[in-house]
Amino acid sequence: MSFYAKSIVSLIFLAAGIVAVLSMLTLMGKADKKMSGPALRRIHRTAGIIFFILTLVISFVCIRYVAAFGGRLAVRPVFHAVLALALFIVLLLKITIVRFYREFLRIVPTLGMTVFVLAFLVVGTSAGYYFLKAGPAIGQEPPVTEEAREEEAEPLEAPAGSVDLGSALFEQNCSFCHYSDKTDSKLGPGLKGVMKTEKLPASGRSPNAENIAKQLKEPVGTMPSFTSLTEKQVLDLIAFLETL
Ligand code: HEC
Repeated sequence: MSFYAKSIVSLIFLAAGIVAVLSMLTLMGKADKKMSGPALRRIHRTAGIIFFILTLVISFVCIRYVAAFGGRLAVRPVFHAVLALALFIVLLLKITIVRFYREFLRIVPTLGMTVFVLAFLVVGTSAGYYFLKAGPAIGQEPPVTEEAREEEAEPLEAPAGSVDLGSALFEQNCSFCHYSDKTDSKLGPGLKGVMKTEKLPASGRSPNAENIAKQLKEPVGTMPSFTSLTEKQVLDLIAFLETL
C-alpha cells in the first residue's frame, strides 16, 4: 500500500469513528430534536460497520508487516500494534454486548468512547508521527541535510562479496519491501541500478558500499535495521546490489 493510500484509509477510518460517536451522542443526548432516533441509529450503524471493516483491512496489512519483520520492529510500531489490539478487543466486546448481552448495555457508551480515543491514539502513532516528522515536505524527496552529508562515510576498498549469496539474502530480507528489477516503490524505493545512480533514493548520500552498510545498520526513514547481518552478509548484499 502506498503512503497516500494508507493516509486516505486512516482518514476514512477516523471520519467513520467521528460520525459514529456524534450520531450516538446526538441520539443519547437528544441535542437535535429534528433528527429521528431510527435515522441516527442507522447512521451510527453504517459508520460503525465501515469503521469495523476498515479495522479488519488495516489489521490485515499491519499483521503481514509484523509477520515479516516482527523481530526487528522499533518501539513506535510495537506501541501502535498494542493500541490497535486493545481497540480491536474493546470494539468486539462492545458489539458482542449490543448483540447478545443487553443486560450490560449501560457500559456500552464507555466502551464506544474508549474505542474512539484508541482510534486517535492508533492513528497518531503512525500518521501523526510521519506528519510531524516530515512536516510540509511530506511526500517530497527528503532534503539532503548538512548532517547527512557529514555522515557520509569515506569510501573503502572494493568489497569482496558473493553475488549469489547476496541475491538469496535479498530475496529473504529485502524483497518484501524493495523491487530489484525496477525503480518503482514497493514499501521502500525500487533498487534497480541503485549503486549506479547519483545518490541513494532516501538519504541522498552517495551510493557506495559504506553508505549501504550504514543503511542496513542505522537506517534512515522507516526501514527496519538489520543489525543481525554479519559483515560478510552485508558485503554479499552489496555485491548483489552492484549487479542491479
Ligand atoms: C520493511 C520494509 C523494508 C525492508 C525489509 C528493507 N527495506 Fe530498505 N528501505 C525501506 C524504506 C521504507 C526505505 C526508504 C527510507 C525512507 O525514506 O523512509 C528504504 C531504503 C533503502 C535504501 C536506500 C537508502 C538510502 O540511503 O537512500 C537501500 C539501499 C535499502 N533500503 C536497502 C535495503 C536492503 C539491502 C534490504 C534487505 C537487507 C532492505 N532495504 C530491507 C524499507 C525496507
